[in-house]
Amino acid sequence: MKILVALLVVFSVTLPALADPEADRLAFAEFYLSRFPSIELQAHKDGAYALDQAKREQWLEMEDFPPYEIAVDEGELLYARAFDNGESYAACFDQGGLGIKQNYPYFDIERSEVITLEMALNLCREKHGEAPLDYAGELMGNLTAYMAYTSRGNKFAITVPPEGLSAYEAGKQFFYERRGQLNFACSSCHLQSAGGMLRAEILSASIGHATHWPTYRFKWEQIGGLHKRFIECNEQVGAEGLAQQSPAYRNLEYFLTYMNNGMTLNGPASRK
Ligand code: HEC
Repeated sequence: MKILVALLVVFSVTLPALADPEADRLAFAEFYLSRFPSIELQAHKDGAYALDQAKREQWLEMEDFPPYEIAVDEGELLYARAFDNGESYAACFDQGGLGIKQNYPYFDIERSEVITLEMALNLCREKHGEAPLDYAGELMGNLTAYMAYTSRGNKFAITVPPEGLSAYEAGKQFFYERRGQLNFACSSCHLQSAGGMLRAEILSASIGHATHWPTYRFKWEQIGGLHKRFIECNEQVGAEGLAQQSPAYRNLEYFLTYMNNGMTLNGPASRK
């Protein structure tokens, strides 16, 4: 009997707890605060440039002539252009779609899936009889750059309804799961090793990973979305990159953005 009781006690403490996104987020924030006691949490929205003064200065110089400015201007024109049926994007979104990025991605209960801003734009096009845009293309980059620009200064306010918990959990698992020939998880680099170096690069904190998309990268010579970065991070450990807007990446974005709740949006941004 004693053994049985002991077993039950052991078993009950090892049972997986019910998902609690807010407890996860607080622990996440706490981790970075203790890893970087002299860096304010909000500063991580600048990624690696929050962690190294010399790189930050170079980057600020680069920002004097922001390389994403053209994308924002083009995006504004595209956004205002009427569809063939006379409607436009504004009809599909709250507040005409301006200053709303802090609410994306969200879990759509009827569709039972995570909807990112990119996907919402294509659903809007579909609803109005327009062909979807390529998720990796320039037009999508420009549109989201403009929408991000109108949301600057707002704070992420992602919600997880009970129906969305399993998508959140799947995203969380993706973040902590090891993969590829190097057998690294997202967390291996951006949590455990945040602030450390990988070749010439400083590993940024995931607490700022959602704030600044889309981003103009000099390496890409174009503006790209968060999922383009996911692909690159998967491939650099020898794992396969998934398609942009695949369910697994949308769930990952959902988890990661929830971890960024309360962080200030500062997209679009530039990175090396
Ligand atoms: C082998 C280490 C490594 C792993 C594993 C890794 N990354 Fe990265 N990641 C990097 C490096 C290096 C950079 C560029 C420097 C930086 O910003 O951290 C980067 C950059 C990023 C950025 C852009 C940061 C910014 O400020 O724009 C995001 C977002 C990101 N990674 C997310 C992820 C996610 C999500 C995963 C898991 C799917 C992942 N990474 C796995 C090394 C890694």
